[in-house]
Amino acid sequence: MKNIVILISGSGSNMAALIRTADEHNWAKRLNARVSAVISNKADAEGLAIAKLHGIATSVVDHKAFAAHPQPREAFDAALIAEIDKHQPHLVVLAGFMRILTPGFVAHYEGRLLNIHPSLLPAFTGLNTHARAIEAGCKFAGATVHRVTAELDHGPILAQAVVPVLVDDTADTLAARVLTQEHLIYPKAVAELLKNTLNP
Ligand code: GRF
Repeated sequence: MKNIVILISGSGSNMAALIRTADEHNWAKRLNARVSAVISNKADAEGLAIAKLHGIATSVVDHKAFAAHPQPREAFDAALIAEIDKHQPHLVVLAGFMRILTPGFVAHYEGRLLNIHPSLLPAFTGLNTHARAIEAGCKFAGATVHRVTAELDHGPILAQAVVPVLVDDTADTLAARVLTQEHLIYPKAVAELLKNTLNP
């Protein structure tokens, strides 16, 4: 069975879309895959409760616990790797995971690490993507599923969705419109990858 480990920091709506699609499309039977764990860097991430309701293993690796370490990012990522690797993941799926990962972490999961970013990459890497798209006068915005490489929000693109930017949009209304599309393209992109690697 191919294990998918999802990393979250907050509401986990993309995680929920992945879990729902895995159930509804019977990934266990059709793709020999399952969401086996959800890991958060925040104990109060709302998505953890949703994962638990679905009987999925959850755990927390709190980045703040490493603040006093001489190399806090490296120490956090090492602990995160140890937690993730308990599940022997075929894919590690970042879904609103708000931490910058070290090159060592990215190298460890090379070819197995995916992210969704709420912009049409390569435009608007980083934070506040919706406000920046509105500010720039963009007529269209969207989301991108991409492989993760050491450079933030820069890996090869696997899927994109486009939405219009409406004249009275705020960052919040645009974010909500983009998010509905994220929930479609992320599960689809993950399923495609699983299909392409059907052999154990
Ligand atoms: C999404 O917009 C995602 O693209 C971005 O963070 C947000 C997470 O939302 N990386 P959720 O936690 O999946 O609801």
